[in-house]
Amino acid sequence: MELQAVLFDLDGVVTDTAKYHFTAWRNLARRIGIDIDGDFNESLKGIERMQSLERILVHGGREQDYSQEEKERLAQEKNEEYVSLLAGLTPEDTYPGIKELLIELRERRIPAVIASASKNAPLILEALRLNEHFHAIVDPGGIPGKPAPDISLQGAKLAGADPAHCIGIEDSQAGIEAIKAAGMHAVGIGEAGIPAPSGADLVCSSTKELTLRLLLDSAGMACKR
Ligand code: BG6
Ligand code: MG
Repeated sequence: MELQAVLFDLDGVVTDTAKYHFTAWRNLARRIGIDIDGDFNESLKGIERMQSLERILVHGGREQDYSQEEKERLAQEKNEEYVSLLAGLTPEDTYPGIKELLIELRERRIPAVIASASKNAPLILEALRLNEHFHAIVDPGGIPGKPAPDISLQGAKLAGADPAHCIGIEDSQAGIEAIKAAGMHAVGIGEAGIPAPSGADLVCSSTKELTLRLLLDSAGMACKR
């Protein structure tokens, strides 16, 4: 079977922005009297901004306390802090192995697509100077978030690929579920001390391991000739 596209999650796969999401949510939660720890944060990974806020409010038993308008304000506050934390991001913050994999894909004319729930993806790719390596960035606005398959399916569509011929790379449980629900081959990225998401077809403990050869072998796929 021919590999037609590789879909990359962004936060926690291309770069370590997952830690900034955690900091900004933890600070926001603290301001409204809710405590979130690293374990709880795992359940926020891959989850869209407003949905993340809802989960935090439920976690603190405060889901009834805010109007829609107030919730939008809280999510905006979190995003402002998150964007300020991104200010120092440089190409050196790209996870190891990612740029090399993108170069291999380009050489083989296999489109790489960003399939992230983040509305900040264009900003982050610009800071990492990786824009030109991606064929497209999925716009997550107006489509169901992960674990629904829509972001992955949209990624395949933008690449002109059949989902069954795509490989998706993810660090979150919701993201692996989205990839599998889209009928794709799923590669999970674990981290020291954090269990890798379950249900992936292949698990790597670091992005350093990601080579085109490994992806092809694990999916039983080949490059187009
Ligand atoms: C995902 C992150 O990639 O994007 C989530 O794993 C985040 O933590 C989501 O909430 C939405 O990101 P943003 O940048 O649009 O708030
Ligand atoms: Mg992620």
